[in-house]
Amino acid sequence: MLTQQTREIVKATAPVLAEHGYAIIRRFYGRMFEAHPELRNVFNMGHQERGEQQQALARAVYAYASNIDEPTTLAAVLKRIAHKHGSLGVRPEQYPVVGEHLLAAI
Ligand code: HEM
Repeated sequence: MLTQQTREIVKATAPVLAEHGYAIIRRFYGRMFEAHPELRNVFNMGHQERGEQQQALARAVYAYASNIDEPTTLAAVLKRIAHKHGSLGVRPEQYPVVGEHLLAAI
């Protein structure tokens, strides 16, 4: 459960993500692949080169931040993305790696 203070911080990031989302996500992948080169084998590097994955993640992070008070809106999207990550074999211990580099990039 998120506290009200956390929600306000998340909401305050939405305008920044709207303006700089793509640049933030490019920075995120750059940092993460430098620290964890083994993850280059996990992601589709063709999607990276075409900027598709950066666009998808930038849109998703912006959508979460701007809908943080709308759990029913978020639930449908989160369910689809959770299924996708489950089928890709993403493991729980990999999430803190993404969290660390995403927050640092923001
Ligand atoms: C905060 C956590 C995360 C968020 C918000 C997130 C978000 C996303 C989104 C929006 C997509 C695109 C989904 C689509 O195509 O419909 C995606 C794809 C993907 N994610 Fe994540 N993700 C997260 C964590 C992770 C972690 C921890 C890993 C593994 C290290 C991972 C690996 C992948 C891979 C391999 C793809 C497919 C990308 C490709 O086509 O190259 N994700 N993610």
